[in-house]
Amino acid sequence: MLEIKLNDQEAKEILLKEILRQEEGLELIASENYVSLDVLNALGSVLTNKYAEGYPGKRYYGGCEFVDMAEDLARDRVKKLFGCEYVNVQPHSGSQANMAVYFSILKPGDKIMGLNLAHGGHLTHGSPVNFSGRFFEVISYNVREDNQLVDFDQVESLAKQNKPKAIVIGASAYPRDWDYKKFREIADSIGAYLIADIAHPAGLIASKLLNDPLPYCDFVTTTTHKTLRGPRGGMIMIGKDFENREGIRAPKSGRLKMMSEIIDSNVMPGIQGGPLMHVILAKAVAFGEALRPEFVEYSKQVIKNAQRLATRFIEKGYKVTTNGTDNHLILIDLRSKGLTGKQAEDALGLAGITVNKNMVPYDTQSPMVTSGIRIGTPAVTTRGMKEPEMDIIFNFIDSALSNVNDTQKLNSIREEVKQFCSKFPIYKELLNSIS
Ligand SMILES: Cc1ncc(COP(=O)(O)O)c(C=O)c1O
Repeated sequence: MLEIKLNDQEAKEILLKEILRQEEGLELIASENYVSLDVLNALGSVLTNKYAEGYPGKRYYGGCEFVDMAEDLARDRVKKLFGCEYVNVQPHSGSQANMAVYFSILKPGDKIMGLNLAHGGHLTHGSPVNFSGRFFEVISYNVREDNQLVDFDQVESLAKQNKPKAIVIGASAYPRDWDYKKFREIADSIGAYLIADIAHPAGLIASKLLNDPLPYCDFVTTTTHKTLRGPRGGMIMIGKDFENREGIRAPKSGRLKMMSEIIDSNVMPGIQGGPLMHVILAKAVAFGEALRPEFVEYSKQVIKNAQRLATRFIEKGYKVTTNGTDNHLILIDLRSKGLTGKQAEDALGLAGITVNKNMVPYDTQSPMVTSGIRIGTPAVTTRGMKEPEMDIIFNFIDSALSNVNDTQKLNSIREEVKQFCSKFPIYKELLNSIS
């Protein structure tokens, strides 16, 4: 069993506060989850001491025989889980996974196309304040104003007009599944690489509940800590048909390099040094958990819970973008309720409910204010909550949003939320062991 013996009193106090926050509040941030004690054990292990630049069997340091086993275990499990041909489990984060792919196939100044950040896309898909927007010329596609779905006519015309070298599929706040085949056709028509960033729905894709990008995309990147319920981190996969696609000739030997080699060398030494071997062991543990049938049941419940919440919001007159969800998140446009995302996030925070304010498509507010909130079900589903609990959560949220200026009311909801959460404990063992 995990035991925390923290002698540093200041650090211990912070840790205890955070455990209590996670235990006593409702975590509805769509990109967060609760990892298992096994994953925590691996993260807090002595593998953090080990330097292992390179890859299994080809390291720049001695003493890597056991961390090699950890990385092989993680890679083998990903291959089973997603059915991919190749995976690199070393990226420290989702952003670094994307960076390594871009650097493998693009030169500074090349054009990339991704979903507009203000329409649900991610910073690394071309935002001007991110490396992606600073190194590359960006063309952004949008969702349609009438139904908030990806505007394929626009994707096609922008692609034909601008001929980007890579098209990125994926989002941080898009509640619907993706048509990878249609994107492939567009990419093929202009000879572009196709990258799917499945950071958000990875666990649902691994559970085969959403479309599979691997048969259609040259590269698939993801985080490991959202619906996949692993430690924080990233990885890059290549499907069975893509490994050798347009390999690059090595300058000295003239040998045609495989794409997997190019990705490996762009992760390390390209953008990272030593891999975080304790995180890689924890990734292996999480992938092992995701291979169990219980994980598929978990993923199904994540979607059912998100759909139940969407239904409740719609019934109560809220505007839910795209009118529902296929995945783990819903995006609520609060303009018709006369609230901003910031007001909602603050009020819900006081009520013990954590969400994030979020731009909605065609938002009229700034990113620091926004007109919406994003709500996700991965974490509450890990606690064992199901549809009846979603109804209770909806009532908490609706009540808080109807009383955003009533601190007393918000405090009383906070107490109710705490009582409710105590029926679904997550880290009892940790609380007991912090002494
Ligand atoms: C679609 C998408 N890609 C990449 C990332 C980046 O992941 P990280 O925060 O690990 O860098 C995120 C994170 O939210 C994301 O939503």
